[in-house]
Amino acid sequence: MKVERRRLAELTTLGVGGTAEVWTVETPADLLEATRAPYRVLGNGSNLLVSDRGVPERVVRLGGVFRRARLGKPRRGERVHLTPWVGAGALLPALVQEAARLGLSGLEPLLGIPASVGGAVRMNAGTRFGEIGEALEAVELFHEGTFRVLDPTELDLGYRSSRLPPGAIVTRVRFRLTPAPAEAIEARMAEVDAARKSQPKRKSAGCAFKNPPGDSAGRLIDVAGLKGLREGSAMISLEHGNFIVNTGGARAEEVWRLVKRVQEELPLELEWEVWGELP
Ligand code: FAD
Ligand code: EPU
Repeated sequence: MKVERRRLAELTTLGVGGTAEVWTVETPADLLEATRAPYRVLGNGSNLLVSDRGVPERVVRLGGVFRRARLGKPRRGERVHLTPWVGAGALLPALVQEAARLGLSGLEPLLGIPASVGGAVRMNAGTRFGEIGEALEAVELFHEGTFRVLDPTELDLGYRSSRLPPGAIVTRVRFRLTPAPAEAIEARMAEVDAARKSQPKRKSAGCAFKNPPGDSAGRLIDVAGLKGLREGSAMISLEHGNFIVNTGGARAEEVWRLVKRVQEELPLELEWEVWGELP
């Protein structure tokens, strides 16, 4: 296990945030030790706005056995493929590609989401083509010092939401996938990819706000004329209104001011999770 003081700006996709004591756990014994004091769990840091002052709690990252990920080859004639246990620290983009290579369908809607498996379960990450919850067979949690396996229905997965017990860490999942022809999987992936074309390539944490029922937060921000608005090095993307981008060296305070500016004009709910104190 590695314990080191790190800048969370380096461990988040937005590239913002002060320091914390980061505990990278490699075994169940490490996990037990790391969670003996107040902690937060960090996945791939792709849905987080972290305070410039960092966080006082331990930040637990899944490494070692928790990153092991094999989907298993589909057997001839198999109609439903249940994968082996996949570590929650594994990265979704690699799994989406691995599934396509093996001829397994079910993860295509998640193409382009830069999440860890655990973070994707916590957020029920997805696109309009589908969510991770639809592909889950079982979820293993570490909670109050013990491991237990849950049926995904017990997590109450909704639109970018779940109900994990407080402090619970997703440690492994099994997926339920369907063997399918490579061309069909590739066609689905191309469709999902096309739907992301308007999203900026710059540093961001994905969509900042949830879509209100039947509408798009990005469209509303666009119509309100807020695209291109800047606070220091943070900017509401000109390409997609629901993305706040870090144009280089942005501070959490600046990003937060943009969030507030949007919320002064529109009743939008934040999709990001905020870590630490913000003004
Ligand atoms: P983090 O950001 O590290 O953490 C998010 C939350 O999950 C925190 O509360 C954290 O404590 C918790 N968490 C993380 N790991 C675990 C674990 N093992 N157990 C328990 N809790 C855990 N999201 C979508 O849904 N659809 C999209 O299309 C999409 N596109 C994106 C595009 C870009 C360019 C970016 C940067 C982000 C995008 N996102 C999208 C947002 C983000 O990828 C998702 O919210 C994702 O699920 C976050 O996963 P993560 O591993 O990065 O979690
Ligand atoms: N639109 C505008 N202006 C903008 C942005 C969007 O007019 O600046 C319009 C588009 O033209 C389109 C509509 O709004 O008619 C919807 O836009 P888009 O197709 O880009 O989808 P979205 O609702 O903005 C959602 C998810 C994304 C996901 C895409 C693809 C949310 C908050 N966002 O975006 O998820 O990648 O669909 O399925 O649910 C995320 O959650 O972080 C995320 C990026």
